[in-house]
Amino acid sequence: MSDNEDPRWAEDPLEAAAKVQRLYDSDVPFFTKDRIREAYKSLQENNEPGKKAYTRDLDGKLESFKIETGEVFPDPDDDLKWIGYPILYYVSIQHLLDQEWLGGNSPYSNLRIVHCLERCDEPAEEIDQQIKHESLQRAIDTWRDSQSWEQLKKALSGVSLPPVKKFVAFALSSMPAFSDVPRDNRSLFQHALLVTLRDLLLESSTQEHDGIKCYAQDPAYTERDIAVLQSCGVTVLPDPEGFLEVDEETAVISISPNVPVKQVVSELARPALIIWNTIKGNGLEETPTTDPDSPRLQKWINEHYETLEFPPEPELFGQLAVYARRT
Ligand SMILES: C[S@@+](CC[C@H](N)C(=O)[O-])C[C@H]1O[C@@H](n2cnc3c(N)ncnc32)[C@H](O)[C@@H]1O
Repeated sequence: MSDNEDPRWAEDPLEAAAKVQRLYDSDVPFFTKDRIREAYKSLQENNEPGKKAYTRDLDGKLESFKIETGEVFPDPDDDLKWIGYPILYYVSIQHLLDQEWLGGNSPYSNLRIVHCLERCDEPAEEIDQQIKHESLQRAIDTWRDSQSWEQLKKALSGVSLPPVKKFVAFALSSMPAFSDVPRDNRSLFQHALLVTLRDLLLESSTQEHDGIKCYAQDPAYTERDIAVLQSCGVTVLPDPEGFLEVDEETAVISISPNVPVKQVVSELARPALIIWNTIKGNGLEETPTTDPDSPRLQKWINEHYETLEFPPEPELFGQLAVYARRT
């Protein structure tokens, strides 16, 4: 919750929601790199218990958040202990307009600082780095031999893609050991998609290049994920550095994130190529997911992108689509 002395949430919530809706219906950007950069800098500079970090509201006012890094919270129900660390929290338009989601925050605050809790008495078990590496390699080999990869390459060869100099992947998650249960291999195959697509574009690139940079952002990565990905040419970035990297020459891959990646990315840049969960409408009819569609997103995709089918692989990828920017 924000920590302002002059709480803006005292404003009439319905009136505030109407103002936010008016801002949304106008062309006011809901996420900008400058606002994200400013909040990130404030969080980095003030990441000590008791200090305050700031984010800027949609109407330009500053919102302060008390930092509780390292505070230990005992669980009243058992012996577990949790430790808090602050993160940036991106609020979708649906949740911003939903009174129940405000939770004491300003209705104009769609970029907040919240605290995540992590078990501090028992570190999570991690698989061996070599096993992680071999598991990813096995997924890459299996994916390269698959019909789906052939279909995806064929679909991409039918469009004229704008130049791609960078990949940024979101939410592909920590990689487990290869399993006989296909669903458990989602993260491995999603990273296999990232690596094989990067290699494909590198091979087919006719322009002079100094390679294609490849980044991945997911707070779930462990030190071992970071090392294994680095050995495949993928650099892990902390949130929000992945968002700040996205530009017109970027290919974005984002699969079922816990944050509204579609709404954030579509406000920051117009990437050359996007693979993410299929946009099905304006996102207003259904209960919003963590990465909901929206009226702006639907319009943006229709105006600037050609939609290609992603081969149906629901267990490994969910329902994805490929969006190639029109040249
Ligand atoms: C529902 S899981 C999906 C994982 C995987 N892509 C899949 O399809 O099974 C959501 C993922 O979003 C990640 N996530 C949460 N916050 C994020 C952020 N700020 N940036 C990128 N990923 C984030 C979580 O760590 C988690 O790995």
